[in-house]
Amino acid sequence: MSFDLQGFPADSEALATLAARGLAYRLVDTSDAAATSKWVEADFRGFHHSRPRQIDLDFDFGLLAERRVHGVYDPTIAEPAVPVATVSSWPTGLSVPGGRSVDAWAVSSVTVSPTHRRRGIARALMLAELQNARSAGAALAMLTATEATIYGRFGYAPAARAATVYVDRRRAHWIGADVPGRVQFVDAAAIREIAPAIARRAVARTPGEIDRWPALLDRVLGLHDPESDRSRSRRVARYDDERGQPQGFAVFHVTREPNAPGVAEFDFLAAATDDAERALWRFLVEQDYVSGTRGLLRSVDEPLPWLLDDPRAITVTDVVDHLWLRVIDPIAALSARRYSSPGRLVVEVDDPVGIAAGRFELVVDDGGRAEVAAIESRDAAASVKGARGIRLGVRELGAIYLGGVRPSVLARAGRIEESAPRSIDLAERMFASTRTPHLSIWF
Ligand SMILES: CC(C)(COP(=O)(O)OP(=O)(O)OC[C@H]1O[C@@H](n2cnc3c(N)ncnc32)[C@H](O)[C@@H]1OP(=O)(O)O)[C@@H](O)C(=O)NCCC(=O)NCCS
Repeated sequence: MSFDLQGFPADSEALATLAARGLAYRLVDTSDAAATSKWVEADFRGFHHSRPRQIDLDFDFGLLAERRVHGVYDPTIAEPAVPVATVSSWPTGLSVPGGRSVDAWAVSSVTVSPTHRRRGIARALMLAELQNARSAGAALAMLTATEATIYGRFGYAPAARAATVYVDRRRAHWIGADVPGRVQFVDAAAIREIAPAIARRAVARTPGEIDRWPALLDRVLGLHDPESDRSRSRRVARYDDERGQPQGFAVFHVTREPNAPGVAEFDFLAAATDDAERALWRFLVEQDYVSGTRGLLRSVDEPLPWLLDDPRAITVTDVVDHLWLRVIDPIAALSARRYSSPGRLVVEVDDPVGIAAGRFELVVDDGGRAEVAAIESRDAAASVKGARGIRLGVRELGAIYLGGVRPSVLARAGRIEESAPRSIDLAERMFASTRTPHLSIWF
């Protein structure tokens, strides 16, 4: 998705709404180091982080140069150059069922200063981001959320979950078949060059994953701040297949407990093949002098229980909604993914904000490919009369889109209706995803 981030002005409605409250909504020029530093300060403060060091600012300058960055400014406060609200966003690919990618709009860094909370600032910013997503030609907007009660009102819904997976070392007896190839330690800087290609392939095979950006890989590998305690504790294990081709890597550290074994903890595992996934999991759970292994933001559907003799060695906690989706363009979104069953379904979408509302005909062939058309004219409506169909809100469409939430569950919750008998059954079969959607990073 090529798109000029600075190519259109700040949203006029947000501008007017906030101006009426004495606030200035501005697109930040990320080549202006002074203005960007103040924005980063506000972002760190908004998430209750310590004040950024110069090394953090330098890192963020590089990152934000690739993003559309907005701030809200209050000229009456003691430090008017520090925004009272922040948001950043960028166009990026989202993996969808069928190994394909859809153009999406990622929204991040949503903060409002506690001195200015609950005056509608976040609302103005979030509505503006929907317009930005539309201007960028994105099919969906997406985010990860600190709290699950904020974004539903703007049409977002949880679409892919993640969980913490802990494996007790004493009970972790591996019964999975041996994987050809080998796992070896590699230097973080040395793997940086091939990391994007491995990450790209890993992302492509999992619906719900989003494209990795260069600064993310630098941070994961500890390269942005190599002498910090955090970076120095990180170890990188790479899996090479039987031909010596790197197919995956994991970044982990071992927590230090006083006079006791620590826990091998990882929050980044990129596996381009099933072999890579199995080999890296095995390496991680078979550490010595640890009490266990903890994987953060893991899939809720790991094959791990089938690889260990004692599936109860595994404890899954913190199962959370993780990826939130908001459909912007139903035709582009519905056309982008592959479906698990052929069929013809009318999808009627309700959207309080108006952006994604309409009636659409979704026709899926035997190969799972979709053709989607808006049903606008009376003739078109007559041609689908009596067809199977579902009626749902834009949130429910976002929830079922990747196959992570089943239409039948939303129907039981009274949140999807069918227009003809067995329409929910058909939707259930069509929207199912062979691979459970999963997002393994925060953004
Ligand atoms: C979340 C946050 C950005 C909200 O900012 P805000 O300007 O106070 O929000 P608004 O005044 O625009 O509120 C918009 C709506 O969201 C609701 N809302 C806002 N924050 C909420 C929260 N934390 N929990 C539940 N509802 C919330 C408001 O009640 C309001 O509802 P309504 O318009 O439907 O009546 C702000 O509290 C914040 O910076 N939190 C800390 C950082 C953070 O968690 N950011 C989110 C990153 S994913």
